[in-house]
Amino acid sequence: MSSHTEHTEARDDAQGGHLTESREGGAVAVADDPFADPGLPPHEPRRQDVDERAAKRSERTVAFLFTLSMLATVGFIVSYVAIPIDEIVFIWPFGHVSGLNFALGLTLGVALFCIGAGAIHWARTLMSDVEVAEERHAIEATPEVKAHVLEEFRKGGEESQIGRRKLVRNTLFGALALVPLSGVVLLRDLGPLPGTKLRHTAWKEGSLIINEATMQPLRPEDITVGSLTQAMPEGLDPHSEDFNVEIAKAAVMLVRLEPEDIKDERSADWGYEGILCYSKICTHIGCPATLYEQQTHHALCPCHQSTFDLSDGARVLFGPAGHPLPQLRIRANDEGFLEALGDFDEPTGPSFWERG
Ligand code: FES
Repeated sequence: MSSHTEHTEARDDAQGGHLTESREGGAVAVADDPFADPGLPPHEPRRQDVDERAAKRSERTVAFLFTLSMLATVGFIVSYVAIPIDEIVFIWPFGHVSGLNFALGLTLGVALFCIGAGAIHWARTLMSDVEVAEERHAIEATPEVKAHVLEEFRKGGEESQIGRRKLVRNTLFGALALVPLSGVVLLRDLGPLPGTKLRHTAWKEGSLIINEATMQPLRPEDITVGSLTQAMPEGLDPHSEDFNVEIAKAAVMLVRLEPEDIKDERSADWGYEGILCYSKICTHIGCPATLYEQQTHHALCPCHQSTFDLSDGARVLFGPAGHPLPQLRIRANDEGFLEALGDFDEPTGPSFWERG
């Protein structure tokens, strides 16, 4: 018999597969059943398990870390009492910092780190590392336990007299039914309902399209093929209180495409000489989708990579957005400035609430 065979014994597993099991309790799968439970590998003692001097060294390391933690905690308390609150110190590479904050952070950090490091070292070198397999047992209770529980439940009901004292039972049900109403009333604190506000933006017929960078009205010649210009409607004051609310719905981007590159007829009609104006608010959860790839005419949202084809009605090509970017109808007015023909014909921004 070969030495390998001497150290193992064979057994058939439940599926008819074939395992070899080592004397130490470990088992390895053999080729005729690659899905057989390979079992636990044989336990290998660590150095500390067989060498008492190594175990003592580990013990001293753990004790050292815990002692350092104690000293750091004392240092924390001393720093708190001794360092004036307005003391500024130079610490490389942070520069000038509050001496008190630095000392408190450092000592507390060291105290916590040393407890953690000591515990890990203790667990890895001194605590038992023998692998244990915990067998699962059936979750369902036995019929006796079930019968016992039901009996206890019935007895509890009888003792509480809930069946006999109908007045108590009915008023209890009433109280339980009404209690959640207090939560409903608190919903009022969430503020007024949005009404139709989310369906309308600051764009209206004749609104000039303002370049967000220069704050000047845009002309068709300002929009060149290959560029992307971010814009907003005239009349929005960046210093006003509701600016953020309004710009979050009305922000747009303009691109110019060669007319033959525009695949969507409606999209071309809504633009002006190849200039298309889309909401730049991603229809996933509202990031600005303004990473523009001029060769493909794709606009990419950096948050979750939704990709829109601006040459094809801002159709979603990729990513979690569920809706194309709404397009704004534009034209050039008599003075040669670009302006809107009206508001968006659908809500801008994340589309999930529309489905609710
Ligand atoms: S917000 Fe644009 S992909 Fe998520």
